[in-house]
Amino acid sequence: MERIVEVEKLNFENEYELTLRPTDWNEYIGQEKIKKNLQVFIAAAKKRGECLDHVLFFGPPGLGKTTLANIISVQMNANIKTTAAPMIEKSGDLAAILTNLDEGDILFIDEIHRLSPAIEEILYPAMEDFRLDIIIGSGPAAQTIKLDLPKFTLIGATTRAGMISSPLRDRFGMHFRLQFYNHVELAEIIKKASFKLSCSANEQACMETARRSRGTPRIALRLLKRIRDYAQVSDEDTISQERAKYALDELGVDEQGFDDMDIRFLELLIQAKGRPLGLGTIAATLSEDEGTIEDVIEPYLIANGYIEKTARGRVATPKTYDLFRLTPPKNDKPTLFG
Ligand SMILES: Nc1ncnc2c1ncn2[C@@H]1O[C@H](COP(=O)(O)OP(=O)(O)O)[C@@H](O)[C@H]1O
Ligand SMILES: [Mg+2]
Repeated sequence: MERIVEVEKLNFENEYELTLRPTDWNEYIGQEKIKKNLQVFIAAAKKRGECLDHVLFFGPPGLGKTTLANIISVQMNANIKTTAAPMIEKSGDLAAILTNLDEGDILFIDEIHRLSPAIEEILYPAMEDFRLDIIIGSGPAAQTIKLDLPKFTLIGATTRAGMISSPLRDRFGMHFRLQFYNHVELAEIIKKASFKLSCSANEQACMETARRSRGTPRIALRLLKRIRDYAQVSDEDTISQERAKYALDELGVDEQGFDDMDIRFLELLIQAKGRPLGLGTIAATLSEDEGTIEDVIEPYLIANGYIEKTARGRVATPKTYDLFRLTPPKNDKPTLFG
């Protein structure tokens, strides 16, 4: 079943994400430090008449990495070519992409941690010296041909900072880690989107929705769309807080923005009575894959202090016991020496 608070894009979402996706800085809410830095670097690169340095974005899905890549391309007046690492299987795939770039283009590679080592090897000289080394033939007769590439900017995005190899990471001139959004920022994103979707929502309705969006714009926009459906059916022209509340409850999104999966995850930790649980155990019990748990479910729970990751596994925090109106077990706090 699809989670309403799923952070990955659902199939039908491409279309409205495109219409709601900001193309300039004014519409891009939050992530102020990243914005400021990028604005400076973009202005400097333009002044020098050069390409922007290669940029790497880290962060959980739905926080605005793809959006930033697109804003950069608009601001640099550059074309953007978009691909994802799983689509680059053979070295020829990457060679084709690179040789098709024009001077000043932006190449956006999503999920860049999934590039194979052989493909990464090709990317290194391309990033450093704008050069493509093609090996023709094999064995002693093999020959390397060096091709010059146009100067371009590579923008990489990844949900898994830890899984990107350090030689690749080091070749990016800029690294930015996106943060979860606070309620005020999300409310503003919802407000702006509600205008674009021609369904106005009042301040309280925006805040109510923001609180339940798991700190993630993609979820906030999805919830807004669903609330709009409820409002339309009941013939209201402005979405009120009550309407938003009703719709969100109906959708099974609770006050913290937790859905069934978050709750089952937290319950599991509570049932362990303070004993740390390993990722493998958690994944098996929830019938969910480890990657999804690490990339999608855990970051928000960790950022908000519901779970702690220790060397021996995950434990619930007092905040989680509070949420379930339970008292934490004694010795629940993991000690330094585990
Ligand atoms: N800072 C932001 N301000 C406004 N809208 C945003 C912001 N970040 C993301 N969004 C919206 O959320 C959606 C998901 O963002 P996206 O860039 O696709 O996330 P990611 O690539 O990190 O998974 C986009 O459609 C975009 O409209
Ligand atoms: Mg993306």
